[in-house]
Amino acid sequence: MIRFDRVSKRYPPGVDALSNLSFDLDEAQMLLIGGHSGAGKSTLLKLVAGVETATSGSVLVGGQNLGGLARAALPYYRRRIGMVFQDQKLLFDRSAFENVLLPLSISGFPVRESASRVRAALDKVGLGKREKALPIMLSGGEQQRLAIARAVVGRPDLLLADEPTAHLDQDTAADVVRILLEFNRVGVTLLVATYAHELFPGARRLQLDHGRLAA
Ligand SMILES: Nc1ncnc2c1ncn2[C@@H]1O[C@H](COP(=O)(O)OP(=O)(O)OP(=O)(O)O)[C@@H](O)[C@H]1O
Ligand SMILES: [Mg+2]
Repeated sequence: MIRFDRVSKRYPPGVDALSNLSFDLDEAQMLLIGGHSGAGKSTLLKLVAGVETATSGSVLVGGQNLGGLARAALPYYRRRIGMVFQDQKLLFDRSAFENVLLPLSISGFPVRESASRVRAALDKVGLGKREKALPIMLSGGEQQRLAIARAVVGRPDLLLADEPTAHLDQDTAADVVRILLEFNRVGVTLLVATYAHELFPGARRLQLDHGRLAA
């Protein structure tokens, strides 16, 4: 599903965020990305999402070399990917329902089927009864679950999560992890940047140290 082959990423004016990184992640598997602050975890996710491009090396996702992807093709590519970020980027003047609906509207999903898709996604994260709530009325954990619902409403093959449990208490964090694992169990490839690897017992982990693969 994902193949990094000697990937380096240098940000101007010369920060090496990733250096000569190679790894593979098979379809329907799960991989945690660990490492200190600034180790390159978010950069790795951004390369997979096509938000940033590698300075050298190749990033393949689903057999597609992202280096060769035209800008115009990016929105289509991203439809197969769900993304959950630490600051969830929810729209605070829209209801939970509308937040989850947004990616479907943007991708031109048929309006008639949208509502049931949105409700199914909200149900899966346990927010089925909160569709009318504004994000401000939701707790931190509920907001994070809403962000997950929005990420999966398009039924992606690949789910990227950047520190999805940051700022959550242990029980709430465990809830969010359980939901992520459930998607993985039904075949969604899962790539998670996290400090909290103990919440994912037994998961394969790639440890970064200053942009390089640690032992
Ligand atoms: N847009 C950017 N421009 C310049 N430098 C950047 C940019 N984004 C990240 N960096 C630098 O690249 C390095 C890796 O950053 P990255 O955000 O990938 O780290 P991280 O492992 O996600 O850290 P954290 O745990 O704090 O989120 C850091 O030195 C950071 O300062
Ligand atoms: Mg980060």
